[in-house]
Amino acid sequence: MSACEERYIGLMSGTSCDSIDAALVSFEEGRPTSLHTHNHPLSAPLKQKILALSKPGENEIDRMGALDRELGIAFAEAALALIDSSGLSKNLITAIGSHGQTIRHRPPSPTTPHPFTLQIADPNQIAQLTGITTVADFRRRDMAAGGHGAPLAPAYHEALFGSERKQRAIVNIGGIGNVTLLRPGTEVLGFDTGPGNVLLDGWIKATKNLEYDEGGQWARSGHIQTDLLSNMLTHPFFQSPTPKSTGREDFNLSWLNQHIEQSKKTYKPEDVQATLAELTARSIVDCLSQDNQSLLEELFVCGGGAHNTLLLERINHHLPNTMVCTTDALGLSPDWVEAVAFAWLAKRTLHNLTGNLPEVTGARAKTILGGVYFAD
Ligand SMILES: Nc1ncnc2c1ncn2[C@@H]1O[C@H](COP(=O)(O)OP(=O)(O)O)[C@@H](O)[C@H]1O
Ligand SMILES: [Mg+2]
Repeated sequence: MSACEERYIGLMSGTSCDSIDAALVSFEEGRPTSLHTHNHPLSAPLKQKILALSKPGENEIDRMGALDRELGIAFAEAALALIDSSGLSKNLITAIGSHGQTIRHRPPSPTTPHPFTLQIADPNQIAQLTGITTVADFRRRDMAAGGHGAPLAPAYHEALFGSERKQRAIVNIGGIGNVTLLRPGTEVLGFDTGPGNVLLDGWIKATKNLEYDEGGQWARSGHIQTDLLSNMLTHPFFQSPTPKSTGREDFNLSWLNQHIEQSKKTYKPEDVQATLAELTARSIVDCLSQDNQSLLEELFVCGGGAHNTLLLERINHHLPNTMVCTTDALGLSPDWVEAVAFAWLAKRTLHNLTGNLPEVTGARAKTILGGVYFAD
């Protein structure tokens, strides 16, 4: 089979722990086309186990070992359900690229002598149960080369969405936000921006027992609390220079509740939600402003946050001279951009091509990412 006919599967579950996104991708002359997609729900007990392991606690090794295996099976099931519904023969698929599920991310910092990042969903299980070669554990090689292991999407955003004329930003609003700046003739920039949906989801779950704020409607019913917003914006992550990456370790409900308590005020719950939406929008826009946003012509949003129309409106409000829309305008649904990225990264690895950008992650060099688990 020639390289131009290859098909890969990308599997992704992000910080939000909402579902395993599975995309079947064909590569023609290096450009991916998403052929078929499948959204594999994570059961409530499985989500609970992930969230419980996402912060320090008792008996972590046993819990992690068992969850690694359980998630490996769930990821394999997601791939098999995708193949089944696509009607395509398994033999036509070269490999699976699996991001796995992050349960801890401790990036390099002056106070972290041994940085690490941990994505679980055992790739041995995925290869064994699907019979398809699986590439996984992409982030740790970049970290071994001195990088943050994140974000990894910028090289792929550049390959897919780079323009010869336009100054573009690709903004992924998952649990955490990250941005890629694509400027003709200039090095690609990329970094995490801070909380995407993680606090919005956490607050609506704690207050109304809902998984997320549909379309940002609840946030829309509240008023931005400027004191709370400016206090939250003092988090050192927002001011820290690149390379930078973050996770639930920095932005979580305890952190939010501390800010609410410190203010010694009683906020209406919907006002907190409105403020959290503004925090997401401001943290994205402020990063772009630091980097001469007046030149930014187009901003494309992907990730689940693309469905939160309030977030898009607030971003546009702060960037009135930039066209703000979703990656649908570039021909790829915002829901599948990240899953396709891991199909793209798996292809890079199997072709002995590098996947990271040192200027983005801080790694010393470009590196071939991931471990390969061969099919029988
Ligand atoms: N219709 C919607 N309205 C508002 N928010 C949404 C909607 N659909 C998805 N989301 C948000 O997107 C999140 C999932 O985004 P995703 O890109 O999958 O993040 P992650 O990569 O962290 O899993 C959900 O948890 C939710 O906050
Ligand atoms: Mg998700």
